[in-house]
Amino acid sequence: MNLPKRYLITAALPYANGLKHIGHLAGAYLPADIYVRYLRAQKRDVAFVCGSDEHGTAIPIQAMKEHTTSQAIIDKYHKIIQQNFEDLGISFDIYHRTSSPLHHETAQAFFKVLNDAGELETKETEQYYDEKAGSFLADRYIKGTCPNCGFESAFGDQCERCGTALSPDELINPVSTLSGEPPVKKKTTHWYLPLNRHEEFLRNWIVGEHGDNWRANVVGQCKSWIDGGLQPRAVTRDLDWGIKVPVAGADGKVLYVWFDAPIGYISATRQWAIDNNRDWQPYWNDKDTKLVHFIGKDNIVFHCIIFPVMLKLHGNILPDNVPANEFLNLEGDKMSTSRNWKLEMQDYIDDFVNKENGGGALVDALRYYLTQIAPETKDSEFTWKGFQDAANSELTDIFGNFVNRAMVLMHKLTHGKVPPLHTAALTEADKNMLAQLAKTKETVENLLEQYKFREAQFEVIDLARIGNRYLQGKEPWKKVKQTGENGQPTEAAQQDIDNTLHICLQTCANLAILINPFLPNTARKMLHMFKVVDKMLDWENAGKTKLLSVGYSLRAPELLFRKIEDEEISYQLEKLRNNSLAASVSPENKTDTTVTAPANNPQPPAFKPAIQFDDFAKIDLRTGTIVSAEKVEKADKLLKLSIDLGSEVRTIVSGIAQHFKPEDLSGQQVVVVANLAPRKMRGIESNGMILMASDEKGKLHFVRPQNKINPGAEIN
Ligand code: 2FM
Ligand code: ZN
Repeated sequence: MNLPKRYLITAALPYANGLKHIGHLAGAYLPADIYVRYLRAQKRDVAFVCGSDEHGTAIPIQAMKEHTTSQAIIDKYHKIIQQNFEDLGISFDIYHRTSSPLHHETAQAFFKVLNDAGELETKETEQYYDEKAGSFLADRYIKGTCPNCGFESAFGDQCERCGTALSPDELINPVSTLSGEPPVKKKTTHWYLPLNRHEEFLRNWIVGEHGDNWRANVVGQCKSWIDGGLQPRAVTRDLDWGIKVPVAGADGKVLYVWFDAPIGYISATRQWAIDNNRDWQPYWNDKDTKLVHFIGKDNIVFHCIIFPVMLKLHGNILPDNVPANEFLNLEGDKMSTSRNWKLEMQDYIDDFVNKENGGGALVDALRYYLTQIAPETKDSEFTWKGFQDAANSELTDIFGNFVNRAMVLMHKLTHGKVPPLHTAALTEADKNMLAQLAKTKETVENLLEQYKFREAQFEVIDLARIGNRYLQGKEPWKKVKQTGENGQPTEAAQQDIDNTLHICLQTCANLAILINPFLPNTARKMLHMFKVVDKMLDWENAGKTKLLSVGYSLRAPELLFRKIEDEEISYQLEKLRNNSLAASVSPENKTDTTVTAPANNPQPPAFKPAIQFDDFAKIDLRTGTIVSAEKVEKADKLLKLSIDLGSEVRTIVSGIAQHFKPEDLSGQQVVVVANLAPRKMRGIESNGMILMASDEKGKLHFVRPQNKINPGAEIN
């Protein structure tokens, strides 16, 4: 294989307009980090760049919501997001900002090169204008009635209720969100990138050159764009937040955020080179650089069609691959900021990482699960139960258990030292285990080179699984009882014990190297136990069978992971549900940005995606009567209810303590989801859920039949 001279790895620049969730982490940043850590362990020349995307209408809109300035918004979120990535072990070489003067200068120069070469076109169009505010209106600043579903607060680019993509012209009764007034049409001139001129190049490059080696979802999406016919795309906007268009007479115009953001990869590389006394140019200009963009699927068109055309016209190299991930759902539903159905990186850090001494094991637990369910080929799903199973049954019971057993037995049976290998006494099982090390290395490497992180991680865990089986089969704890007359194990028994533990320890050393790109904290902990330096983690050491020297004494084992308790999982599930309930009644959480909108008249949340009747029919809804209610200790929100369901009395724990006094509840009729799987909350097993509706003030009300009927009646 011909290795490239250098690598430039980019991860999508997140908008600095709010906290980012674990879907973002799993989509772009974690796979990029795994790949980069692998490349670094290979000693390859690599720059890993990212940073905040700080332009576009998303920023001033958030500023309006938070009653502050755009500058304050980007300063706030840039800092938090950068820290979140650092806390979760995402090891960028630079986390830059598109608000930096270096980026403004880079993006303007880029635009000028294209414009001066006649590669852009200008066109006069009519656009909505707010006369009262004295400003052209970006699509997001216009609201009106959705022609598709009749929702009265649809945006000029999309209806948040039915999801239809719209243009402002399609809205019925459009109004400006700046002043609340109907906008007027006014002429304006913009610069366009004529993508139609580059269709052939794109088809040859994507379908011809990369059709077989890029992910099918990426090629498929690009192909359908190209087949649909490419249109010139506006690369400027009338807006007062962004990078000024560097042309005389373009006052009040800025570069479109999607024109400047990917150039952010170039300015980040430039800043990184300045900081490290390097030359940035070959990273963007030399064909011997491998450029890889890690992104989520919503960014495919920008990274595979628009930015490559810009790069080609500007004389830069093109990406070698764009391994885009699909989306990560959460507990059966799409993640959504407006519905507060999400797990933010910050939340995970607060609830798991910061509470723990060091926290590294729980950082690695999240990294592990997110890679295990990585949406590489189709959307996938994060569930708290899945997270618990991954952490407990795989990381702890397989990987952690193998390392721990090998270390404990070595201390018990071979005096805390790496025992020798007696080659003449090697069994078939010993030889197979030793051979497995090189095999796993090769498999993992091949998978990583193909961006198949999920499978690669599986193979590493599988090596620990194989190690466990091997150790179980060799039973050194039994061999130690095969003693001679002196009461010591016979020579043959001792040689077999030595061989087993020698091989297990070399397997542990291999596991440290192989797991390092995925779980860097775990690898580091293992180095500490083995008393070896970082150098052992060099990838070239993987597959080797003599990594830990014979006679070398190792430290006492420490547990690599800890189990995730049922209570932690129920707490998270309850929190998710409560947050989403709160969002459905809180005006601040709406995507509604009209400053003048009445705050006490929130819109109901968007409808969930359609389900089949069979899905609905699985839910067993019954009438129930509350028999008694009491507060749950140390939980302000929970009540423990006993509910008569006709044939039995159930215990249900419900998050309604702030809405009802326990003494008012007995005799109340409710509707119960009777076949919800039991779950533990604060140590109490809850067997079902009661249905509640929340009013405009966020107060909860029971949902129940019009007239009282017998408990246990079916609801269809
Ligand atoms: O979708 C997003 O979050 C964009 N801010 C990604 C930009 S990627 C790149 F082009 F900078
Ligand atoms: Zn609609």
